Amino acid sequence: MKPIQMVDLKNQYLKIKDEVDAAVHHVLDTTAFISGPECGEFERDMANYVGVSHAIGCANGTDALQIAMMALNIGQGDEVITTAFSFVATTETIAVTGARPVYVDIDPVTYNLDPAKLEAAITKKTKAIIPVHLYGQPADMDEILAIAGKYGLPVIEDNAQSIGATYKRQKTGSMGLISTTSFYPAKNLGCFGDGGMIFTRDSELAEKLRMIANHGSKKRYFHELLGLNSRLDTLQAAILKVKLPHLDGWAAARQEAARLYNENLPSDLVKIPAVKPDRDHVYHQYSILAENRDALQAFLKEKGIPTAVHYPMALHLQPAFSHYGFNRGDFPIAENAADHILCLPIHTELDAEQIRYVCDGIRSFYKS
Ligand SMILES: Cc1ncc(COP(=O)(O)O)c(C=O)c1O
Repeated sequence: MKPIQMVDLKNQYLKIKDEVDAAVHHVLDTTAFISGPECGEFERDMANYVGVSHAIGCANGTDALQIAMMALNIGQGDEVITTAFSFVATTETIAVTGARPVYVDIDPVTYNLDPAKLEAAITKKTKAIIPVHLYGQPADMDEILAIAGKYGLPVIEDNAQSIGATYKRQKTGSMGLISTTSFYPAKNLGCFGDGGMIFTRDSELAEKLRMIANHGSKKRYFHELLGLNSRLDTLQAAILKVKLPHLDGWAAARQEAARLYNENLPSDLVKIPAVKPDRDHVYHQYSILAENRDALQAFLKEKGIPTAVHYPMALHLQPAFSHYGFNRGDFPIAENAADHILCLPIHTELDAEQIRYVCDGIRSFYKS
């Protein structure tokens, strides 16, 4: 059996090496490293893929969220609602704008923001709602959009983990006023460094987002808005343009790996991921809930099985946000997930023998 890796970027690259290398060399030859033609071409490809009219490249998925909030004039005195269980970027960017993050606990089945708890979090200060499509499974967008609509609030979809997933036949990232994604290398569509993108159907907003990502400027050295230096560079755009046509095939490979995990894991001993019937899960992560999670993780490591904990601490308990005054017990389902979640290896290069070995390892931990 080949050694098991958490992600296998090398073998994925080797399969498309000729195409990727040609695209990189083309950029090296032209030296159009910033805002070269591949940037616009890839933005058009992504807008078509997601099904919106505008896609704006930026430096990473964190900046994408910050730019989205800057475009909505979110700042001091405002509140932004988000999930208590996500990667830190979702909440960090709210705090960076000067607004206060307001958390909603998660659905214990999907780990996504629980829409039944959303309305109670809305106040007069609320300026936006940021659901995250966590691990590859779309959040409950109909319910979230209905509540947002009732209060006239914009929704920013954090789609960093679920590019290519569908919710009632619509692609994630096409339903909110704005959506964002990340091209961090290990993401389902990853570049060879950092990269991100912002999506919207609104032309005026798109222009503003594009300006903010480029020093608040449309015309060089004339700065109409406060902005950032946050562009997707041409090399990354060229690589991503080659990778995009493979994305659906890679999602199918992840779904097949998940199917094999579902079939072979002891579901009486660990909680396997549940997918709601009206949506597609693209398995950025395959996450189980496990008793004695840390001991299980150490046991698997001894057997050559890497795993990861995304995420070991709910956002409201992170020291960086302690000044907001949250306590343990405030969002118990997120806290329980942080204490028990374990992400198993999942990527496009994993084979059935490796998956069975992981499942046998988990079974033998609980039987020993
Ligand atoms: C849910 C979520 N939001 C935002 C980000 C931030 O993306 P990046 O690492 O490209 O800044 C990530 C990725 O790491 C993420 O998983």
